[in-house]
Amino acid sequence: MAESKFVVIDGNELHFEAGETILQAARRAEIEIPTLCHDDRLTPAGACRVCLVEVDGARLMQPACHTQTGPGMVVRTQSAKVARNRRFILSLHLADIVEDREQAEDNNPSRVHQLAEEFGTAGRWTHVDSPRQGRPDDTNPFISFRADRCIACSLCTRYCDQVEAVSAITLAMRGPETTIATADGRSLTDTTCELCGGCIDVCPTGAMSEKQALAYGKAEHELEKVRTTCNFCGVGCQLDLNVDREANRVVKVTSPPPGTTVNDGNLCVKGRFANDFIHHEDRLAVPLVRGEDGALHEASWDEALERVAEGLGGVAQRHGADALAFISSSRCTVEENYLFQKMARAAYRTHNIHQCAAT
Ligand code: SF4
Ligand code: SF4
Ligand code: FES
Repeated sequence: MAESKFVVIDGNELHFEAGETILQAARRAEIEIPTLCHDDRLTPAGACRVCLVEVDGARLMQPACHTQTGPGMVVRTQSAKVARNRRFILSLHLADIVEDREQAEDNNPSRVHQLAEEFGTAGRWTHVDSPRQGRPDDTNPFISFRADRCIACSLCTRYCDQVEAVSAITLAMRGPETTIATADGRSLTDTTCELCGGCIDVCPTGAMSEKQALAYGKAEHELEKVRTTCNFCGVGCQLDLNVDREANRVVKVTSPPPGTTVNDGNLCVKGRFANDFIHHEDRLAVPLVRGEDGALHEASWDEALERVAEGLGGVAQRHGADALAFISSSRCTVEENYLFQKMARAAYRTHNIHQCAAT
């Protein structure tokens, strides 16, 4: 007899794929199970226990992110027992991290606090200062680890191992002292770390944060995200510029969520951190054209473009179109490169057009 490929979740009979977890089968059916330590890009760790669900025949509740579906399995994700356990787990998480939501979200959002607000807690428990140690002497310029926000979910270390393939950080110590460490407690810049900042991105609590944004002092929820294309190389990664509208400043760069853009939630060191040039005082902000006195003077874009067109047109007239050559950059978008070659071919009638990615 053919084996049943169905599982029952909250009374719904659902087809499941071989090897699929309860969480994956539930999400396909739009049954929401909260998670803290899960990321589709990483192998599950079952660390946070927020996703525990009831499974018929199992003595204990099972982590949905880490338990494979089986034929005829009956799962409950919203029973009174599951809800009570979830509140209890959230209280446990809150007991040894910064408890006040506003303080906890001084920089990145905290999913623990969001879930506590959504599902409730088992009450405020006496706060216990965690013996987890940070790395206060880490002088790297970009990433801060704040031990008083860490829930030891291991998302950062798994990301560093499995996505970045760098393993610069690791879980160290045991029990309540479990912390995020580097070899010999070195600064990240003295390890294999590539400063991709992915550990900041996956951290659900803000324990991993960006130093420059921390120093700026505005929480992420006070900033407006503006989507753009990174221009440091030709891959076309999508970035979210986090903009302080009051000051008209880009405060930090984050990645759109995994699974939504070509970079799948990842960024490199340049895309994530190399943005202080935007507001640098030496930055050329208006076009300059050379005047009759030989010096450069500020000009409008119309004036500057007119001068360029005149100059190029003059060369073509005097020496023929093939005296011109156009060189573009892989830092431009595909659309910009397309327009550039079109300008060369259609406006100046030359095929002398090249771009560094072509070699
Ligand atoms: S910045 Fe990237 S490479 Fe460095 S510890 Fe974080 S995830 Fe690993
Ligand atoms: S630093 Fe963040 S991602 Fe890493 S274990 Fe702690 S809470 Fe999890
Ligand atoms: S999401 Fe399943 S244990 Fe953390």
